[in-house]
Amino acid sequence: MTGAGSGIGRAIALLFSEEGAKVAVADYNGESVQETAKMIMDAGGEQLAITGDVSNPDDVDRVVSSTVDKFGKLDILCNNAGVFDGFTPALDTDDELWDRIISINLKGVFLRSRRAIPEMLKQGKGAIVNTASIAGLVANGGGVAYTASKHGVVGITRALAAEFTPQGIRVNAFCPGGILTNMTKDLFQDPGVKAMIENTPIHRIGEPEEMARAALFLASDDSSFSTGSLLVVDGGMTAV
Ligand SMILES: NC(=O)c1ccc[n+]([C@@H]2O[C@H](COP(=O)([O-])OP(=O)(O)OC[C@H]3O[C@@H](n4cnc5c(N)ncnc54)[C@H](O)[C@@H]3O)[C@@H](O)[C@H]2O)c1
Repeated sequence: MTGAGSGIGRAIALLFSEEGAKVAVADYNGESVQETAKMIMDAGGEQLAITGDVSNPDDVDRVVSSTVDKFGKLDILCNNAGVFDGFTPALDTDDELWDRIISINLKGVFLRSRRAIPEMLKQGKGAIVNTASIAGLVANGGGVAYTASKHGVVGITRALAAEFTPQGIRVNAFCPGGILTNMTKDLFQDPGVKAMIENTPIHRIGEPEEMARAALFLASDDSSFSTGSLLVVDGGMTAV
């Protein structure tokens, strides 16, 4: 479970633990991932906390290796860690911002999947759940790097599903709309963004726990016929 120190990732880690999973929580923020680990422990769950950067192949290897060393196998990979570009306009998106967003949001998903899939192939079964975004489906005027990265996550989801479903690994993504987390709390103060949320059919922002339930569905056998699919969880934002 990457990006488990905050927001959607933390909510997924807690719900999976509640459902009986042994959860390896990883994040590049060591302090926050320890907090998530403590929350799991306090609730009686089993966990492993690891600090690592999802865009660094050595860290990715260490995260997966230590997970398998501790728990003996890997059933589920949640590629959730991500960063936002604040809807930066295209012409203000410099190389540094582009590279940061793409390396964490897109390349990171590939690196982790490439390292985790061989572990799942050993048992002929696995589920990968990618946190994409409605920015993987539509654009919003600004945020070209984030939009490209999330469209890429959709592409990785489909490509890996096509390649590995025959070998027992289902790969799916969910697409959150506006969810209240550290990533978005300032953004939701913006009057324009508030109006956009008010215009959605559900008239509110979503909670991380609502995303966790979508991730749980895709990770579990409840979604046994879903692969290469996208579960849109956006309060209807992209329906209108
Ligand atoms: N919040 C929303 O409205 C929303 C909407 C659509 C998609 N998403 C996606 O959901 C995912 C989770 O975002 P969130 O809203 O919970 O944000 P968040 O900022 O609360 O959590 C993101 C977590 O990822 C970690 N992280 C960032 N870069 C990392 C790296 N290089 N290596 C390891 N960990 C790293 C951060 O430390 C943080 O704990 C992201 O992929 C985001 O793009 C969020």
